[in-house]
Amino acid sequence: MRLGANLDIDLKLLKSNIQALRALVSKTDILFMVKANGYGHGMVPVARYALEECGVGNYGVATLFEGLKLRKAIPERPFDIYVFSENHLTSQYAEQYAHSALIPVLSSLDELDLFLSEKAFSRVPLVLKFNTGMNRLGLSMGEDELELVLSKLKNKGRREIFHLMTHFGRSFEPLSAPGQTTLAQMQSFEQIRQRFSQEGFSIQYTSTSNSGAIEQGVGVGLSHVRPGLMLYGPSSLATSTLWKGQSISSLKVQVLRRMSVKKKTPIGYGGALTPEDGTVCILAIGYGDGFSTKLQNTILYHLPGKPMFFGRINMDMAQLFYTGSGTGIPKEGDVLEIWGHDPAHILSMSAQSGIIPYEIYCALGDRIPRKYTL
Ligand SMILES: Cc1ncc(COP(=O)(O)O)c(C=O)c1O
Repeated sequence: MRLGANLDIDLKLLKSNIQALRALVSKTDILFMVKANGYGHGMVPVARYALEECGVGNYGVATLFEGLKLRKAIPERPFDIYVFSENHLTSQYAEQYAHSALIPVLSSLDELDLFLSEKAFSRVPLVLKFNTGMNRLGLSMGEDELELVLSKLKNKGRREIFHLMTHFGRSFEPLSAPGQTTLAQMQSFEQIRQRFSQEGFSIQYTSTSNSGAIEQGVGVGLSHVRPGLMLYGPSSLATSTLWKGQSISSLKVQVLRRMSVKKKTPIGYGGALTPEDGTVCILAIGYGDGFSTKLQNTILYHLPGKPMFFGRINMDMAQLFYTGSGTGIPKEGDVLEIWGHDPAHILSMSAQSGIIPYEIYCALGDRIPRKYTL
């Protein structure tokens, strides 16, 4: 923990983001992605609020241990937890899935085999994720794998699919972008769904869409959508016209030291030379807090004086350079909003540094206290 920086999380903004999403996809249920510590915002408080105050009943985590942590933290209410990216389905872990009512998302034949052979999974809902072109995790629809999946399920008498899914590789690009694959993936998903139906399988739920797809109206007629980023605020499209979410977090950082500098004064590690006369503020944040060195040279356009992260970002500190020394420049002890609730702030940092907003959020480490407003 440190005293000079904190991430303020306004959960009322999460509620308004969820309401804005519901206005877009009124007939569709939300499976809220809270993996990676709720995209850095604190998985448990975020999910608890979404469950208790916003009525969201489905959550997505990446790992078994994220799932166990979430279930243990909120044992008193029923809600679904899907585990997306873990393939440890052996008997050693099967009991933990079953006992904590965690739903593994099956993405390969090996996982399906383990799932079908472990007794502990016999009462666990069957969730299948197909690769429709992203080529990451997912059962394949080609080379007879789909037929193999059908026959394995038939042999075991499992004809009820709880949730059938796929995931898009390029939904963060406009649908009109060259080489876009989202709509083709959607068509492939439809073929898979039809094949299961032809073979007499029942499919309770279907979902395909993460933030970029939802914003572009793809897959929003299915039973669920699976938003992550957009519910934390920013759009995942570089230019979004539709999504008006607000960043639920604001990163506040204190000025530890302020000094007037002449042009060409060497600053910090590596002695970067100041471009002109001005003021340097030393801030209480560094890469030891998850604030990437790639944010060097990023300009905070939303702050008075439009200061720039100058010189190398250190483990525990970073330097902001202001042109001049006049009014509007913070004093020692002042607190600056590195990003605020306007998503344009973090999106600007992302565009300048080349770090996706997902990573800026997720990277923030434990040393930054999270403070919640209800
Ligand atoms: C399978 C799956 N669905 C949905 C999401 C949510 O994506 P986004 O944060 O872009 O909405 C993710 C995130 O990586 C994911 O892996």
